[in-house]
Amino acid sequence: MTSASAPGKIILFGEHAVVYGRPALAVPVTQVQARAEVRNAPDGQTWIEAPDIALRSPLAALAADHPLAAALRSGFAALDLPAPPAVTVRVTSSIPVASGLGSGAAVTVAILRAVSAHLGRLLDDEQINALAFEIEKIHHGTPSGIDNTVVTYARPVYFIKGQPIERLQVGKPFTLVIADTGISAPTREVVGEVRKLWQADQARWEAVFDRIETLGLQARIAIEFGNLPALGPLMDANHALLQELTVSNPELDRLVDAARRSGAQGAKLSGGGRGGNMIALTEAGQAEAIRKALLAAGARKAIVTTIS
Ligand code: MEV
Repeated sequence: MTSASAPGKIILFGEHAVVYGRPALAVPVTQVQARAEVRNAPDGQTWIEAPDIALRSPLAALAADHPLAAALRSGFAALDLPAPPAVTVRVTSSIPVASGLGSGAAVTVAILRAVSAHLGRLLDDEQINALAFEIEKIHHGTPSGIDNTVVTYARPVYFIKGQPIERLQVGKPFTLVIADTGISAPTREVVGEVRKLWQADQARWEAVFDRIETLGLQARIAIEFGNLPALGPLMDANHALLQELTVSNPELDRLVDAARRSGAQGAKLSGGGRGGNMIALTEAGQAEAIRKALLAAGARKAIVTTIS
């Protein structure tokens, strides 16, 4: 048996604007992971199992646009195999689906790594990232590529679509509480809704994306120089612009307000929005109190993570 895993991710700044060529800052979240295990299948077929979604099926029976099947088939194609190998690929994940934590990308990366390792033909990170980006198109329609990039390289990134990946240096570790509204919101749909807004009034939304870009540039400097007091207000300002973009919702706003009221230095939604997760910046010593306040305010789950 061969296994591989990949972390979740959160976007600190720049979601949605990144689809329109602006920078975004994102970091891996290692407390949640997708995992793939590959073992030889005695019946000569290729199987996919995903107990979390009650799936056990021969690969051949799954449609071309099934994300797990597509990930596996793309791995086989990249390895140039003459025929699908006789293996069972079992996928599990502790990353909530459709919550802005990059579960789709993490599952794809885990599958590609486990399969290539099992077959003894390792794909490098660049190949994995490129394949995962193609599968992201099934998940997201018009992805920027940030999810697959952070998940593949598992390090903080300053990301601009189509440009070489830049590492985000973290000058001083900082603590975030990540809280889940429990509302599943497929990124594909939210990105599609934003696209409609943009098509109807490009000048207006380009100006919003420009303002988000400025916040991202300022945030990068603050993070790299360890100027954490500057970061919270930038998160608040990014959340306000995401509200204007209509991708927040009452549940996200409630959690963002609760975090601020309980002492967070800043808070915003993270990822596609309309559900999923929000993040709050906190002093390490206050993280637990904020986590509890977010649960009391209705978060389905809340975890504390340190970015370094
Ligand atoms: C999703 O994690 C982030 C979005 O900006 C979409 C994308 O970048 O592909 C909403």
